[in-house]
Amino acid sequence: MEDNLKIPEHVGIIMDGNGRWASKRLLPRSAGHRAGMKRMVALAERAKELGIRYLTVYALSTENLSRPQEELDGLYDLIKKYFTSNVRKLVKGGAALKVIGDLSLLPDDVSAVIRNGLKRSPDSAEFTFIIAIGYGARSEIVHAANDAAALGGGVTEERFSSLLYTAGIPDPDLIIRTGGEVRLSNFLLWQAAYAELYFTDALFPEFTDKKFEKAISEYSSRVRRFGKV
Ligand code: IPE
Ligand code: IPE
Ligand code: MG
Repeated sequence: MEDNLKIPEHVGIIMDGNGRWASKRLLPRSAGHRAGMKRMVALAERAKELGIRYLTVYALSTENLSRPQEELDGLYDLIKKYFTSNVRKLVKGGAALKVIGDLSLLPDDVSAVIRNGLKRSPDSAEFTFIIAIGYGARSEIVHAANDAAALGGGVTEERFSSLLYTAGIPDPDLIIRTGGEVRLSNFLLWQAAYAELYFTDALFPEFTDKKFEKAISEYSSRVRRFGKV
């Protein structure tokens, strides 16, 4: 990688294309999700080495919850089998872990594994890995709006932000989507107001560290004006 790159503080990744990756290989979709999970853990390590402070990965949207039960069961099995060991590995490497989303939308045994895993994480660290699971930006915003109404006293942008799942986390500087689709699919809609967007055709399991670094270097060359001249 080139020197003197501007490293984003917070990167979001919409990890799309696992199913197509598997279909291309005549494998079940679950094999794609397994390959995607491995890639996700490796990218977290790479992000940390690069000096990125926050990495948020979109793992399961509220809309994904209406996929066929067989596919969801495969995803839940992956969480039950690997979540704890992956958390242990990340935390051992000095990372903190957070989850954003509505865990009550997941089966109890799955949410229990996630909650237990989170107990192993420090509250903060140089690098924070954030998993969006059972996450939908509209639902997050509606939750925050209800909380704001219950608290009363009017809202400011700052106060509203502090009622979102991402309270205390800076807005993403860069959002990457793999898998060729050019949309946000209900990911961090409020927080993405001024994010740089990067789309790649690479299916997520094929989104190598090198391709990730290419996205960072493209980000580094962008001029962010935030509405100014
Ligand atoms: C993204 O990959 C991961 C999840 C939504 C869980 P997909 O499962 O959407 O893969 P494609 O888009 O069908 O290839
Ligand atoms: C977005 O991918 C959600 C995740 C990566 C978790 P989808 O595959 O669900 O998005 P759409 O349906 O193509 O918009
Ligand atoms: Mg998809």
